[in-house]
Amino acid sequence: MNKIKACLFDLDGVVVDTAKYHYLAWKRLASSLGFDFTKEDNERLKGVSRMRSLEILLSIGKVNPSEGKKIMMAQEKNSWYVEYISKLDESEILPGVKDFLIELRRNGIKIALGSASKNSMMILNNLNLTSYFDAIVDGNKVSKAKPDPEVFLLGASELKVQPSECVVFEDAQAGIDAAKAANMKVIGIGQKGVLLNADKIFEGLSDAHIDIIEF
Ligand code: BG6
Ligand code: MG
Repeated sequence: MNKIKACLFDLDGVVVDTAKYHYLAWKRLASSLGFDFTKEDNERLKGVSRMRSLEILLSIGKVNPSEGKKIMMAQEKNSWYVEYISKLDESEILPGVKDFLIELRRNGIKIALGSASKNSMMILNNLNLTSYFDAIVDGNKVSKAKPDPEVFLLGASELKVQPSECVVFEDAQAGIDAAKAANMKVIGIGQKGVLLNADKIFEGLSDAHIDIIEF
């Protein structure tokens, strides 16, 4: 058994609850197109790339625009989303996350971000968390979306550790599948019975300590 040397964190839903802001922006787009977009619909977008999210939303509204229009819609949604997240501050870091990052660092565990988001730098900067990450791999660096393992494999390679020495923290099924495909341990953040194939599941990271990365 390899000793764990690194932790790779998904951003949205693990470090910060941005789903509510994605929801507001997608809902605004849906209503500009004349249909409703519910919170249940929004669950389907967790961990899903921006363009794939748009496809899902358009299929819900049964709208079929040209490729050029789709790009404009994604840009419009993102400009609203960026407006919301530009107001984020440290108070929105999910409970326990910062203390856990500090404890990992104190114990010599390397830390990387493994996110689909292209807005991750802005979010980490606003949360004052950027300096805790030894590597940041996000939607600007990868070409294949989760459940492809690319984002986590690149994270391990930037940290100079083997995949088998990594633990991934993920709230989305696509991310759990990506971590498994990368041959990494994975801790699911969410509900047991909803997230499948994680090595361990916790509702959140409040009270998380270094022992949770022992396998
Ligand atoms: C993921 C979110 O982390 O990032 C998805 O869970 C989102 O909901 C995706 O669509 C892409 O994010 P962004 O910020 O680049 O639109
Ligand atoms: Mg997530």
